[in-house]
Amino acid sequence: MDESRILIIGSNGQLGKALSAKYPSALAVDRDKFDITDKNFIKSYDWSKVDIILNAAAYTDVDGAETPEGRVLSWQINATAPSQLAKAAAEHDLVLAHMSTEYVFDGTKSEHDEDEPLSPLGVYAQTKAAGDIAVGVASKHYILRTSWLVGDGPNFVRTMIGLAQKNISPIVVNDQIGRLTFTGPLVNAIHHLLSNKAPYGTYNVSNCGEPASWADVTRVIFTELKRDDLQVTDTSTAKYFASKEGVAPRPLHSSFNLDKIKSTGFVMDDWQEELKKYIQENK
Ligand SMILES: NC(=O)c1ccc[n+]([C@@H]2O[C@H](COP(=O)([O-])OP(=O)(O)OC[C@H]3O[C@@H](n4cnc5c(N)ncnc54)[C@H](OP(=O)(O)O)[C@@H]3O)[C@@H](O)[C@H]2O)c1
Repeated sequence: MDESRILIIGSNGQLGKALSAKYPSALAVDRDKFDITDKNFIKSYDWSKVDIILNAAAYTDVDGAETPEGRVLSWQINATAPSQLAKAAAEHDLVLAHMSTEYVFDGTKSEHDEDEPLSPLGVYAQTKAAGDIAVGVASKHYILRTSWLVGDGPNFVRTMIGLAQKNISPIVVNDQIGRLTFTGPLVNAIHHLLSNKAPYGTYNVSNCGEPASWADVTRVIFTELKRDDLQVTDTSTAKYFASKEGVAPRPLHSSFNLDKIKSTGFVMDDWQEELKKYIQENK
């Protein structure tokens, strides 16, 4: 694999930054240099210098996607644009690796395998599901489904570290259950699939370990920060959002079955071990 022939799109996002660090010789571009909603740009792009497209660009504002403007953007960025990338990949015989999410499922099953039928709840989720369908049309595709992403950017762990620094004891939902995924190991998983030429298709990729609620994740964060003076008060998702307008529905079960990626010879570490390392680097 010639890493200089990798194109990383969405390079300023959490995952994009981690991919750019992994592949310093790749061409890394964000919206200013490569706007994935610009169909003509994608069509006329010089693809002769590219073997692999890593699409880390997305509209990730789950609640913003429920607004009239956000709905349009979310469909453009998460669904229509990936269909254009898939078209380019098919026409130029490129590998397209695209990121997806457990939000493509309604979360009624306690664990999601790759073949579960799509059942997205909110607008973001629906657009990501449409993106999966579009990318699946390119013959050389990887759809990497991940959950609860933590990297260099705004994320739940950083929010909770910020609350601890302000001495705030938060109320946190205890009925959304899942596993954190750290961008470093996620990028290693992507590299593993690409460099070993794993069979094309959809792969679940998250850290492993015992699934936990956001409330329990917060307790681990506060313990690691040695802030046992702060209380975490449990609530349900329904109660937490009851008084808030325009909130997207969330799947309650976010955990993936990881057997498929394991069968390719790749195992990610326990999310609690990764969380400890992340907190030491970000506190
Ligand atoms: N975050 C999570 O918890 C989570 C969970 C599961 C799956 N995922 C998926 O994982 C992937 C990466 O997520 P992330 O957290 O790294 O996202 P992120 O931090 O929000 O980054 C997304 C990047 O995409 C860029 N972008 C947006 N619109 C664009 C456009 N039209 N053209 C080019 N670039 C554009 C953004 O640029 P601007 O800053 O300029 O908008 C940003 O740099 C996404 O596919 C997401 O759906 C995320």
